Amino acid sequence: MSDSKAYAGAPPSAIEFHYDMPPEFFRLWLGETMTYTAARFDTNSDGCNPNDLDRAQKAKMRWHLEGSGLRRDGRYLDIGCGWGSLMKEAGESIGAVEVIGLTLSRKQYEYVQSMRLSNVTAYVESYEYYTPERKFDAISSVGAFEHFARPGISVEQKLLVYRNFFRCCHEWLRDGSQMTLQTITWGDISTRQVSHESVSEFFPNSSLPFIEDVIVSSKPWFELVAMENRCRDYELTCKTWLLNLRAHRNEGIRLVGAERQSFYERCMQGGALLFRRRNYNLCRFVFKRLPSRLLKNP
Ligand SMILES: C[S@@+](CC[C@H](N)C(=O)[O-])C[C@H]1O[C@@H](n2cnc3c(N)ncnc32)[C@H](O)[C@@H]1O
Repeated sequence: MSDSKAYAGAPPSAIEFHYDMPPEFFRLWLGETMTYTAARFDTNSDGCNPNDLDRAQKAKMRWHLEGSGLRRDGRYLDIGCGWGSLMKEAGESIGAVEVIGLTLSRKQYEYVQSMRLSNVTAYVESYEYYTPERKFDAISSVGAFEHFARPGISVEQKLLVYRNFFRCCHEWLRDGSQMTLQTITWGDISTRQVSHESVSEFFPNSSLPFIEDVIVSSKPWFELVAMENRCRDYELTCKTWLLNLRAHRNEGIRLVGAERQSFYERCMQGGALLFRRRNYNLCRFVFKRLPSRLLKNP
């Protein structure tokens, strides 16, 4: 896809660079849920193996569905829906009446369409250009926030981008509803000197927020009601993905070539280390929408 519009963060071409490999390739190592964000492990008993990963991905999805307050017959928006795992779960386990997902990856969109999930519709569209027909009862965004702002812009510009995201979500949600957000954030103080290249090499035109950026930019539209920071979740997820990539190396090379196979292996190896050192955090947030009448000069 050509980048015919202006994007505050990663444009479609940058998203395609990372995500538009054949879905069969991602299935080799992401596992049956086809979920490409940190799982939620039981850190006392889970280890790096495909079964624990699948269970932990389902636990992560449950966390978001519960946190978002989605009910049977509710309308749900997944901003950055990937290959549709959370949307599928929202329909099947909660009974959502309508689920809409946004992605900038055409291959992900085609994959979601090919599942023919009832009540689920995906669009290749950035949240920046999306206009819903009706209000939603719940919103989640899992692992897309990292793509919303480009590197190299000022802190003020970055906060404006994030504020616009929260403003949109506020506008699209009905009164009294909730949203969940999952994102990688910069970790300990030494990270502030870490070059943005550690992100850009694998995810062009993308950049991480600090935890406080997320919280500050959610004001005045949302109240933070819960938050967790679980680096270990992403360390274990990256390690399991890496083990899976290595276990299926020949098939991976056949599907995407040796250079690309090595690209994803390096990405997961680096990721596991950065989370282990706490240079990166993995944060999950639950936000409650504040009533419009309480907003003063947003
Ligand atoms: C790491 S994947 C996460 C996918 C999925 N949420 C999951 O947990 O597997 C990031 C997703 O964010 C989407 N994305 C990135 N920027 C976006 C934007 N501006 N608007 C909508 N989706 C976006 C990508 O297309 C991709 O689907």
